[in-house]
Amino acid sequence: MRDDDLIKPSRVKKDLDKLRTEAECLLKEAVSRDEVEAVRIQSLGKKGNISQILKLMGQFPAEERKELGKLANEARDFVEDLIAKSFERLEKKARQKTLSGQIDVTLPGRKPQQGHKHPLTLTSEKILNVLQNLGFDLVQGPEIEHDFYNFEALNVPSDHPAREMQDTFYVDKDVVLRTQTSPVQIRTMLSLKEIPIRIASMGRVYRRDQDVTHSPIFHQIEGLFVDKSVTFSDLKGTLTTFVEKVFSEKARIRMRPSYFPFTEPSAEVDMSCFQCDGAGCRLCKGTGFIEILGAGMVDPEVFKASGFDPEKVSGFAFGIGVERVAMLKYGISDIRHFYENDLRFLAQF
Ligand code: PHE
Repeated sequence: MRDDDLIKPSRVKKDLDKLRTEAECLLKEAVSRDEVEAVRIQSLGKKGNISQILKLMGQFPAEERKELGKLANEARDFVEDLIAKSFERLEKKARQKTLSGQIDVTLPGRKPQQGHKHPLTLTSEKILNVLQNLGFDLVQGPEIEHDFYNFEALNVPSDHPAREMQDTFYVDKDVVLRTQTSPVQIRTMLSLKEIPIRIASMGRVYRRDQDVTHSPIFHQIEGLFVDKSVTFSDLKGTLTTFVEKVFSEKARIRMRPSYFPFTEPSAEVDMSCFQCDGAGCRLCKGTGFIEILGAGMVDPEVFKASGFDPEKVSGFAFGIGVERVAMLKYGISDIRHFYENDLRFLAQF
């Protein structure tokens, strides 16, 4: 090899500088991955410019090889780094391009609809809470009920005219959809066997009945208190507290003598009509009051059917219509609103 065949170190330095600048310019202007890839192949590929220069290093004496090698390595690192950055830049740009056009970040966010409790749930929870604070324990009973619990044990034998009071859905001869929550009284007394008994029970009841204030399926809350010498004034006190807590101190109450086969004496408790405030309207059928519950002292016959001696214990019971209370509380004039699941209605509670 002749001396002038040797590439001069100064030439190599110049070439390296040139290659760096060239690559830098090309990468700056690159608008696609292909263009960046072309630069990579051209400068760092097996036959790339910088790779070629690195291969020449063996030709130089040790001193120069050290210096030139360092420069060549630096040039390779420099271009490698630029290439990585260019790929990143192009990727970021591509991402932004797909996002813009699909998402308008200035639009207000969509609020998820918040669920909430049904007005009947709110009402029964409120009533049960008041009763629990008065010491009543919560119990449950079946909706498909034996004739015995729904009627017979409640002092309504099959030939009793009181069966006329409630139009019943019969499942078969001896099984009914319960017409009231009162059968829970019998079930509780038969199972607990011991006084004092203080329970409340809430659930669905069924009657063949339908107009603006009656639905074939509705909800009742039953209360029962049995002890040694429970009196009618205990009942009055309990119901007064109930109305004060559930409505307000201002709510007017009326107790009318009434008849239930399973209580003696019996009373119907009315509240002043919220729509006409007592003047009389369609809702209250012109009476100015709306019945919200039936109550009375447990009939001796009921005690006998439930395994208690009416000479030794006494008690009171009451049954509250949850829908009626909810209608009064929220000023709702048609009971069907509760079951139609119209969100315009339900969203107000
Ligand atoms: N069960 C009666 C009804 O549905 C209400 C009631 C319950 C009356 C308890 C007296 C005692 O009408």
